[in-house]
Amino acid sequence: MPTASLETQKEAEGLRRDLAYHSWRYHVLDAPEIPDAEYDRCYRRLRDLEAAYPELLTPDSPTLKVGGATLDTLPGRKHSQRMYSLDNIFNDPEWTEYAKRARRALALKAEEELSFWMEPKMDGLAMELIYEQGVFSAALTRGDGETGEVVTENVRTIKNVPLRLRGEALPLRMEVRGEVVMTRADFAALNQRQTAEGRKIFANPRNAAAGSVRQLDTGVTASRPLRFIAYGIGTAVFADGRVFKTQNEIIENLAAHGFAVAPEAELCPAPAAALDYYHKLKEKRQELRFDIDGVVAKLNRLDWQQELGFTSHAPRWAVALKFPAEQAGTRLKDIQVQVGRTGVLTPVAVLEPVNVGGVMVSRATLHNEDEIKNKDLKIGDMVLVQRAGDVIPEILAPLSEYRNGTERDFDFPALCPACGHVARRAFGEAARRCVNSSCPAVRRRTIIHFVSKAGLDVQGLGSSWVEMLLDKGVAHTVADLFRLTPEDLLPLERMGQKLAANIVEALRTARAEAGLETLIRALGIRHIGARTAVSLAERYGDLDELARASLEDLLDIPDIGPEAAASITAFFADEGNITLLAELKELGLWPRGKAGARLAAQGALPLSGKTVLFTGALSLDRASAGKLAEAAGAKVVGSISRAVDYLVVGEKAGSKLAKARELGITIVNEADFAALLQKNNELPELPAGRASGQHSLL
Ligand code: IVH
Repeated sequence: MPTASLETQKEAEGLRRDLAYHSWRYHVLDAPEIPDAEYDRCYRRLRDLEAAYPELLTPDSPTLKVGGATLDTLPGRKHSQRMYSLDNIFNDPEWTEYAKRARRALALKAEEELSFWMEPKMDGLAMELIYEQGVFSAALTRGDGETGEVVTENVRTIKNVPLRLRGEALPLRMEVRGEVVMTRADFAALNQRQTAEGRKIFANPRNAAAGSVRQLDTGVTASRPLRFIAYGIGTAVFADGRVFKTQNEIIENLAAHGFAVAPEAELCPAPAAALDYYHKLKEKRQELRFDIDGVVAKLNRLDWQQELGFTSHAPRWAVALKFPAEQAGTRLKDIQVQVGRTGVLTPVAVLEPVNVGGVMVSRATLHNEDEIKNKDLKIGDMVLVQRAGDVIPEILAPLSEYRNGTERDFDFPALCPACGHVARRAFGEAARRCVNSSCPAVRRRTIIHFVSKAGLDVQGLGSSWVEMLLDKGVAHTVADLFRLTPEDLLPLERMGQKLAANIVEALRTARAEAGLETLIRALGIRHIGARTAVSLAERYGDLDELARASLEDLLDIPDIGPEAAASITAFFADEGNITLLAELKELGLWPRGKAGARLAAQGALPLSGKTVLFTGALSLDRASAGKLAEAAGAKVVGSISRAVDYLVVGEKAGSKLAKARELGITIVNEADFAALLQKNNELPELPAGRASGQHSLL
């Protein structure tokens, strides 16, 4: 490998610096100084140098912005300081009250005034970027506030994210917080491109931004027009011990370090000025390049911020002033009745399409039959429709002054519109429910639920694809979905090779990775929510054990009342469900719960107490092999250490094999391992270092 001369090193350094500068001029300041062709020429030169002398590639090189890495997962990581959410305020009196409370809590003197740093509340994905010694080192989504997902390689590709902080006196460590967003224009262009390529389109810029960041293929993220707008910091440590005094100063510092900040931000010297800012931005909302759903008011003085502190979920020193939900009038053309997964009949309003706050609305939920009566809605009415954020649009009220006598009442059906069975309304319930357990609409929703986010969360297999598969007769049951091949999917409209392969792969991963709790949720047993699913998965080893549980056993579990217990036993007694469960078992979708792990810990399973590591190419994929090992009681680890009992080697095993030999760890091939899985008792120790011919028996 040739080494770069001092001169070449200097050249690469100069190119890196120039490219970072021009990228900042272009993507942050929107004021380029050189033509694109000149930038491209420098970029290519740097890339060629790095290719010839790999030691010249530094972590802050702009050539790393193109993406290309493929990630296995987005692992979780704790934030060093919690990322809070914000409390909302919706009108002027609430703001006045807020400011009064803040004054009181700070015990301000009459002549002291509260000043606020005001910013648009951007509608995107909250993000934390971590810089160590001035160099970008990690990016985490907000997640649940405590722990986020690591999306470093994705965020690295965002054009206006500096890979090295600009300026002097760089912090030793700085956590920069902000929002990843997409402009409305970029969003529209992206959706056009997606349509042309037969890919899914996004509902709004926020979904597009969030979906683009949470990609395993960073090349996809790189191809999306994302921007990062900084609005604050987490931990910041400077060598000279410097601390910030105001929010204003923080933002100026972020801008000096090369971050894009909201140009509309303003320092308002008093609560009244802050309120003016809110009204001004509400009027300007449609002119802004980004979607915003309100403004954020932050106390400008950081000592006062500290004094006010936080509630359990939000700062007391900041608040979101939300814009009112947007409303529009349109005609109620019809009311359709949909049958849900639990057989509930839900009325849905079919509307003359209308633009509500920039989104076309043609349907709205009506919840239940009482709501139609209570709101006095008639088919043919002009109605007031409201939409708030991405909440499902709803009808507020009929505009009865427009009535001309042609409107008619809606009679709620007494029979299920999907199967014609009686739909019954239980005493005290608002819902009317189809009582036919094999109602085709119920079955359809059950299948959709199984693979949805609430169930196994099969990536890419949204409800419209499932509907299409069922309509075309490509699949009839849940189990059919897991047997799909890319060839089965290809004939579907708008399906491509890559998407088909991705969906099949996602189904395979979901099948291999589902835990017992997830599977119980996916089954969608009535009255069994996410929490109960956890309790059941903790108590029972697998679905066989749960199916055998008596009412008394179930009632013994703290979270489970008589309704839930009865629902569980009814579920497992149902013929259709028995067939489904047999099929899932055959597919290997039969995870063990914590109780299964306890059995393992007691030594009752073939690999109880053993630690297993896989290396090289196995005939089964890694996730499935891991599942099998875990089902046999083993703990599966990812790296070699003395704690490993068995190293299972496939073809082309590399350094792990050599290291295992060094450590004297038992080495087995696939065939040996398959045999181990079958054993019932404690395992005989296999001689160390044995790796015979390759079999594919797993
Ligand atoms: S400040 C503790 N400023 O709104 C301070 N947040 O509802 C919390 N957001 O998750 C954040 N624009 O992602 C702040 N200018 C802005 C913002 C903003 C959008 C988001 C943020 C947060 C959510 C809270």
